[in-house]
Amino acid sequence: MDVLNAVTAMQQWSEARRAAGRRIGFVPTMGYLHEGHLSLIHEARRRSDCVVASIFVNPLQFGAHEDLTRYPSGIPRDTELLAGAGTDVLFLPAVEAMYPPGAQTTVVVDRLTRGLCGASRPTHFRGVTTVVAKLFNIVKPHVAVFGRKDYQQYAVIKRMVADLDFDIEIVGAPLVREADGLAMSSRNAYLSTAERKAALCLSRALRHAAALVDAGETDAGKVLDGVRERIGSEPLAHLDYAELVDADTLEAVAAVSGRTLLAVAAFVGKTRLIDNLVLNEPADNRR
Ligand code: PAJ
Repeated sequence: MDVLNAVTAMQQWSEARRAAGRRIGFVPTMGYLHEGHLSLIHEARRRSDCVVASIFVNPLQFGAHEDLTRYPSGIPRDTELLAGAGTDVLFLPAVEAMYPPGAQTTVVVDRLTRGLCGASRPTHFRGVTTVVAKLFNIVKPHVAVFGRKDYQQYAVIKRMVADLDFDIEIVGAPLVREADGLAMSSRNAYLSTAERKAALCLSRALRHAAALVDAGETDAGKVLDGVRERIGSEPLAHLDYAELVDADTLEAVAAVSGRTLLAVAAFVGKTRLIDNLVLNEPADNRR
């Protein structure tokens, strides 16, 4: 696996592959990799001839009081994992390479970013769409894979790509969980032993809600009451939001009918965790 740091070196590598008729798959990450990330690499491999991964902790998507300065990092281990998963190139730029002095252009997706995580992190998605648009112009992929762990991010990127005519296929890969149900996340590293146990209240609340819906409940208010109660009764957890929204528009729904996203965010101690489930979707997408 090659490691490239410079924007122009990455662009030249991709241009050469494109000229040779190769299909380029791309997986952007912020590093501190786990099985969830690696599942995206495998998905990209299946859909392309060569795979590029990026690791870049993007300052633009962190709020002023968020965890930018302590975001976990482990480049040597990440490099090994990526190479082992069959990655051809790791793009690993410095902050100054991505945001040279004078930069003043951002990309904003409007309505889709107002609710859910956008409500409590008002500048977050502007940072995500800006860096992903830049990475697309640097890596020049044919296909890019995102995890449905960050379902709103996936929806926002798909919207950006459609709205700005990026000629890139966007694939949403299933959420990968730990054996006990906790959604894998780099931020799980922040959790103490007690918090790690408490964090299970998110996935448990989602599973309980899915069982209610499977049993015939369609009233969104009742389903959400159950979720809020379950997360609310965990002393170490503090709910940010629990919402039921249309899985495509991300608009709130009053009744659960058709593909509906149940999304939650909660602080466990100081760590903000998210989780979600798509209701009324074929079983193989419900991981
Ligand atoms: P990061 O949190 O590192 O996640 C990188 C990719 O891995 C995202 O597409 C995310 O949805 C996916 N992912 C994370 N945990 C997952 C899990 N448990 N199952 C499946 N996929 C999972 O998301 C970002 O970085 C950044 O916002 C980024 C897109 C790189 C832009 O900076």
